[in-house]
Amino acid sequence: MCLFWLVSPRPPPCGCLACWHCYGCFLLFPFTPKIVDISVPRIAAWNSDELPIYEPGLDKVVKACRGKNLFFSTEVDQGIRDADIIFVAVNTPTKKVGMGAGRAADLTYWELAARRIASVAETPKVVVEKSTVPIKTAEAISAVLHGAGKTRFDVLSNPEFLAEGTAMTDLDNPDRVLIGGNMNESGNAAVAKLADVYAHWVPRERILTTNVWSSELSKLVANSFLAQRVSSINAVSAICEASGADVDEVARAVGMDSRIGSKFLKASVGFGGSCFQKDILNLVYLCQSMGLADVAEYFHSVVTMNDRQKERFVSRIIHGLFNTVTGKRIALLGFAFKKDTGDTRESASIEICRRLIEERASVCIYDPKVEADQIWMDLTAATKLDKTEVQKYVTLCDSAYEAALGAHALAIATEWDEFKTLDYDKIQEDMVKPSFVFDGRNVLDHGALRELGYIVYAIGKPLDPKLNTSINC
Ligand code: UGA
Repeated sequence: MCLFWLVSPRPPPCGCLACWHCYGCFLLFPFTPKIVDISVPRIAAWNSDELPIYEPGLDKVVKACRGKNLFFSTEVDQGIRDADIIFVAVNTPTKKVGMGAGRAADLTYWELAARRIASVAETPKVVVEKSTVPIKTAEAISAVLHGAGKTRFDVLSNPEFLAEGTAMTDLDNPDRVLIGGNMNESGNAAVAKLADVYAHWVPRERILTTNVWSSELSKLVANSFLAQRVSSINAVSAICEASGADVDEVARAVGMDSRIGSKFLKASVGFGGSCFQKDILNLVYLCQSMGLADVAEYFHSVVTMNDRQKERFVSRIIHGLFNTVTGKRIALLGFAFKKDTGDTRESASIEICRRLIEERASVCIYDPKVEADQIWMDLTAATKLDKTEVQKYVTLCDSAYEAALGAHALAIATEWDEFKTLDYDKIQEDMVKPSFVFDGRNVLDHGALRELGYIVYAIGKPLDPKLNTSINC
């Protein structure tokens, strides 16, 4: 059986990672996955020693399978002709212009992929939605395929639930695989065909089949629920700071209730990533389009709370540093939206940095995995300044130690493990006194830092008596 993926011409969305993993599985099974992309440099990167994305464990799988039964190619049309099952994993960003701008998903890439498949396919195909899409996309795509094509197409929804940083293990051992299809003979046969692929490594009882709309909606709802938990605990973190409670203690006490559960209750500087905000806004748009204004408002508050959390963190820095950061050097540790990834999409660090630039601070950024070009791209887009202007305020550093040289404060924005074991004594020697730490991830030993003489702010923790807290954030 031949399977093949069309991937995005842009940086791969998280869903695409599924492909890389499946290759590992396919090495053992009778499939020949071929991944195709219209981007020549991207395919060249996949065929090189430097893969275009960082994901723990991915290198090993790709290098073991590549050239054996895993192929990367720009021969899109040949891929379409040869495939039995086509996974479409193109980017579906939030629309920037036109109707639904800022909320609805932009399906341009999906429609282009569907038109290409329709124009080339000569034999029946199962076409699988891997990208996260609004509900009823399968119906629209089916209309494009059947309107422009000359063969039969069955469109399935098969959303991906892996998280970046843990993608390989998530895919090896998924909580569930969800497949939605049309409830007719040919739809059922297509669902069974895809289920058989997964059944090579996923127990049958974890492969759920639903109608296509339930599957599409479940993906948006799953991400909205996860994000909602993060926003809930972040809202609680503000109460903790005002009351003297400790957010980690509250999360532990609450999470031990088996009906609530302990995961996704880690207070932070705000969630990021390409999916949470995009999917919630997509759900909000859907609700608004269906006349469910109050439901839309309910889900939208998850994003509002997230924005507030980022602003709260920046306010703590500004007020903590005696109400101004103008001309002060801030070491921003971490630029990725979470640890173990080089991905910066919607990362809280971007907004933190934008605000610090607005306040005319001097920001020194260190992240172990994010590429310099990516940071400049993110910051010029966020500030609407050109690179030279941004560089007046921002310096990129090769280590946390370098970033901290002469700094008034350290701000931890990503929970990279290496930040836990830095020599904070040595770091403080080179910092302006009093030296501040703003721990946006609650990963450091705050007691030990205070003993070293730092003034420490940590999300949702009892406030340091030495911190300026005259203004409540
Ligand atoms: C998320 C979902 O977890 C996946 O199930 C889904 O497949 C994926 O989106 C997607 O739609 O593609 P991901 O964005 O990779 O995965 O990462 P998460 O681990 O969910 O973290 C998202 C953000 O929430 C990060 O910024 C993280 O730091 C933050 N977070 C997470 C918290 O602040 N606190 C927590 O307790 C958990």
